[in-house]
Amino acid sequence: MPGKSSKVRIFEDRETACRTLAGELAGLIATVNASGRDAVLGLATGNTPVPLYRELVRLHREEGLSFARVVTFNLDEYLGLPREHPESYWTFMHRQLFDHVDIAPENIHIPAGQPDDVGTHCAEYEQAIRDAGGIDFQLLGIGRTGHIGFNEPGSPRDSRTRRIELDPVTREDAADAFGGLDQVPTHAITMGCGTILEARRLGLLAFGERKAAIVREAIEGPITAEVSASFLQEHPDAAFFLDREAAEQLG
Ligand code: GLP
Repeated sequence: MPGKSSKVRIFEDRETACRTLAGELAGLIATVNASGRDAVLGLATGNTPVPLYRELVRLHREEGLSFARVVTFNLDEYLGLPREHPESYWTFMHRQLFDHVDIAPENIHIPAGQPDDVGTHCAEYEQAIRDAGGIDFQLLGIGRTGHIGFNEPGSPRDSRTRRIELDPVTREDAADAFGGLDQVPTHAITMGCGTILEARRLGLLAFGERKAAIVREAIEGPITAEVSASFLQEHPDAAFFLDREAAEQLG
């Protein structure tokens, strides 16, 4: 039955959820590498995946997990920010993960904050994902508007990588980090819902009571462009990794 293929996995706390997922990603990287090709990971930003990246770094340092044959594609980037801006997703990803593992810089893909031409850049991003053979595992968070990446309400099921205007709720949530609402970019580049849903496997992380209402809508509500995370319900291999607080409104 459409609408019920995604799995819900509820963990004691966010550390356990992230440790579990990190272990599964290490297994996936090993399996894909053993089959003779690079593993392709779609990555996400935000506070939510921080413990996951910490655990991946630990696995690299202490247990021999190598990123030498890993290719990554990040979901999104704020438009207008130079790479070195402290709030750019380029900075975030390097601080949280890339600076601490053996990934080749040329295997890292993050949408540009200041592309010469946005349309061309987005088309090239899509092409790079295709050239890599598609995404094996796409990591996701969820914004309070229900967005995955920056696919704000109204983002069609078949949308592709593009420029998007940020929802006022999303900008408000970013205001503290940027030191004020007026400092938060108004637009971003995001992979589209269609781009994301083509990943062979998806994992959405959501923690804390603040996410409980939107998590319920995403998992139990109607499948609608108003909540782009609801599209995961139709994916054959998508899982929600929740802590108890984020799961508290599920029926
Ligand atoms: C931003 C990112 C999303 C992320 C969301 C939630 O909007 N573009 O990918 O899921 O924030 O952030 P947090 O994990 O900090 O709650």
